[in-house]
Parts: sequence; structure tokens; C-alpha cells
Amino acid sequence: MQGWTDGYVTEIAYTHGFHDELLPWPMMAALADAGRPVPVAPGASFDYCELGFGQGFSLALMAAANPQAQFWGNDFNPDHVAHVAGLAARAGLANLQVSSRGFADYDDGSLPDFDIIALHGVWSWVGPTARADIVRFIDRRLKPGGIVYLGYNALPGWAQYLPLRRVMLEHARRGQGDLAGRIGAALDMAGRLEGQGAGYFRINPTVGPRRDLLAGKDAAYLAHEYFNESWEPVYFTDLAAALAPAGLRMAAQARPADRWEEAGQAPAIQAVGGEAVADPDFAEMLRDFLTNRPFRRDLFQREGGNPYPLGADDGGDWLVAFAHPRDLPRRATLPTAGTIDPPWDLSYAVLTALQAGPAQVVALAAALEKSPDEMAPVLRLLTALGLIGPALPPSGLGDRQAACDRLNRAIMAEAHNADRLTALACPVTGGAVAVDRISLLFLDGLAAGAAPVSFTWKVLQAAGQRVTRDGKPLLTEKQNLAELEERWLRFQQRRLPVLNLLGATQQNRQG
Ligand SMILES: C[S@@+](CC[C@H](N)C(=O)[O-])C[C@H]1O[C@@H](n2cnc3c(N)ncnc32)[C@H](O)[C@@H]1O
Repeated sequence: MQGWTDGYVTEIAYTHGFHDELLPWPMMAALADAGRPVPVAPGASFDYCELGFGQGFSLALMAAANPQAQFWGNDFNPDHVAHVAGLAARAGLANLQVSSRGFADYDDGSLPDFDIIALHGVWSWVGPTARADIVRFIDRRLKPGGIVYLGYNALPGWAQYLPLRRVMLEHARRGQGDLAGRIGAALDMAGRLEGQGAGYFRINPTVGPRRDLLAGKDAAYLAHEYFNESWEPVYFTDLAAALAPAGLRMAAQARPADRWEEAGQAPAIQAVGGEAVADPDFAEMLRDFLTNRPFRRDLFQREGGNPYPLGADDGGDWLVAFAHPRDLPRRATLPTAGTIDPPWDLSYAVLTALQAGPAQVVALAAALEKSPDEMAPVLRLLTALGLIGPALPPSGLGDRQAACDRLNRAIMAEAHNADRLTALACPVTGGAVAVDRISLLFLDGLAAGAAPVSFTWKVLQAAGQRVTRDGKPLLTEKQNLAELEERWLRFQQRRLPVLNLLGATQQNRQG
């Protein structure tokens, strides 16, 4: 069958997304948060491997932001490998090595042992043989105390949609022509099925809106998300059982927001599960029924190793602002924790203090006349809301900045032609931050010493493109410039100061 290799879509390349769950330092913070041993000291060297990296954008961002560390990765789609290799070459990233070998033969004896092995959107997109290859790879190559990150489709969150995807896949298998065309035809078929008043759509009322949503997505996303032959959302307990022979145990959820929600769910899980929740894997399963979330982001950890001693630095963790104080919401919503009203004055004071630059918890608490213990709840909440996050100590910042500047220049250059690479590497966090294409062009204009709005408009004009508003392209030059001016003012006031704080703007531009 045309378009699938070992059940995996190869005819259409994957999207260029950046996934911040892959970032190494928030993983360390998650382990510390969960009271687990932390294998790598902040800012230290480590060996990182991403399996099935897609276009490899996240991998390139991480390599730039951590020149002290080494990054490896594989993906059996040669177009994907060529993309990330080209990006790494343009940015001069000497600490990134990629391979087009599949999971089964990636470990050719030349690889080191890894502190972190990460797989985002892979486990539930491959069949049983590839999963077994992955576990074997992890078993052989993960260091004691090392971390495995997996982001995957979970059950029961996907349960209603499995038949929708199946009927569309069966239709695409029987279609003619290229995969993109067969995907469109399969979506139309599902629409007609719903139009017939099909019982499946009636008894599962969220499926029709899901089909409508999919009809608006591009083929690259749909091909990999819905039209893989091997595509199987999993129960957490099945994943945990598959990883256990490699000595892996669930350590923490990767996302701070999920960990925040988790704290509130403990009583319900205990009340429902009783003695059975003494098994933490079963407790996780109940969590998935409580949240019905379709995607899990888990950190598993191997026993052993020499953990970095927590509290070794008396000043405490380094923190940086990801938002301007004006972005602080009076009321925030987390899906399963409901609404939260952040303690306003203290939250605002934290964000204001961090506008001066990253700070250690002890110094931040002293500046706000609090103890670190008093600060802990608000810092956890602001982290869960994505308003602050972990930063690295200043040592090594110069090298990180130089490497990030090089990659970020390549990203901004690409924004002249395409809307694909929408994040910048951050030396201050050893991570990356999402930035939309127009903002990238503003930044490129600034770095070139030009007026950002007219610079951006000239780039778009040269590419025969227009700014869109509410999804529709603006027609006249006057409308485009007015829209860009509005966006620039917002960007300059709110986003630019934060990007400066993170070191994501050009510091070492030469000409
Ligand atoms: C759904 S995509 C996710 C890509 C990327 N991790 C992301 O989230 O952006 C799955 C990726 O796994 C790769 N892949 C699937 N089976 C593979 C195998 N056996 N060996 C290596 N790569 C594989 C595919 O080429 C694809 O890029």
C-alpha cells in the first residue's frame, strides 16, 4: 500500500512543531517537584537522545541552548533527517548527531549511554514490533538514574474517536491517488456518514465536531495523527508494564499544570480506588478516567545512578519570568482543577521582580520580604500557569547565547519564506520559547536595525503574502500596515521584554 512504511506514514513529512515537554531542565524540575532523584545538576553536561524526532526542530533548539551537552536522535524518514541536519549545519551546531536508522538498528555500537531518552508522539504511533525495539534500545542505552520522557495518546480519552479514525483509514486504504487526496476523501466520507444520521455519531455527540475540526487541518498533521496504519492509544497500565522490564518506573508528569491538577485529584483517587491505589500504576489509570485527557506526558526513571544532591546550592533554584506582569490573569483555568484566582499582590510582585532578570528563590523571597517556604505555593502556581519557569545558573551563559544566536538567526531567516519554525532557543533557560512568524520578522527587523513594521511588510510583500485577521487576508497595503502596527505595539510592550529576559533576541549579531 502506497504511503505507509511498516505501517507508518512516510509519503507526507511531519509538521515542524516544537514541544516544550522535551526540554531537559523542566524535566529535572519535575523530578525535584515529585521528590525524585535529579540526575543532572543545573547547567551541567548530559547526553540526550530523541527517538522519532520528526522534523527535529525541538532537538535543534535544545542543542543550541545547551552547547555543554550532547544531543542524538533518529527518525527513519530521510526527509526529516535532512531537515534537521540542514538546520544544524546552518547554525553550526556541533553537538547534534542525527541518524535515519530505524529504532531496531539505531544502536550500532557507536552511541553513548544517555541521561535522557525522549519520545514525543511516537509510542502510540508505532506497532508492537517498534515498541519492543524502543524498549530494547532504552534498556541498553539509558544510564542508571536516567529519565525517559514519553508523550502519547491515552485511553480512555481517545475512546470515542477510535471508530472515526478506523472508518476513515479503511476508506483511505481503498482510495486512489496520493495520500493527501485520499485523506480529504475519507473526511468527506465521514461527513456524509454523519449526514445520514448514523447511530455512531448520534450516540457519541463529540465525534461530529471532531470531524469538522479535522476537516480544517493540514494533510501533514492528519496523515501522521489519524492515518497511520499503526496507531493505538494506550492505557497507562499497559505502557507501565511494557517499560517495567527495562527497570523504569513512573516518576512524574512532565507538565507543571498536570502536576498541579494531580495534587487536587489525590482524595478522589483514594476514595474511588481504595486499597488498589497502593499500586501507583492503577492510581495513574484512575487519574486518566478522572481527567479523560487524550494525551499523557510522562517521565519514567531508572533506578540507581548518582543523583545531583538537591539543595546543594544554598540560593535555591533559578527562576525566570515567561510573562509580563500585565499578563497575570485575575482568574485562570486549568482543565481539571477548575478556576484558580492567583494571590494577586504576591503573584504580581513575583512577576515584577523577575522582570529585572532571573533570580534564585532565596534572593527573590528576601526581596519580597518572605521566606522561601512562604513563596513555595505561589511559585508552584505561577509555574503551573506557565508564567514563570526554571532558569539555568549564569555560568556558561556566554556560550549558550552564542549558539542560540546562531540558530535563532537561521530561524528568523526561514521566517522570510515559510511559517514553519515558530520558536526561538533561549540561553537563559537552556530551552526554547514559542514565537509566531510575524514576531520573528519583527525581531529580524530589529536585529538588522530596521523599523520592524515596514521591514516585516516588505518581507511579506516580496513573498506575495498578506497579514491575516480573523483568518482572512487583509487586502490593501494600508490595512496590512495598520494590522502590523497594532501587533508590533502589543509585541513591543508585552512579549519583547520577556524575549529579552530569556536571551531569545539577538545579542551577538555581526552585521
Ligand atoms: C507522529 S511523528 C512525531 C514526530 C515528533 N516526535 C514530534 O512529535 O513532532 C512520529 C515520528 O516517528 C518516526 N518513526 C516512526 N517509526 C519509526 C521507526 N521505526 N524508526 C524511526 N523513526 C520512526 C516517524 O518518521 C515520525 O517522524
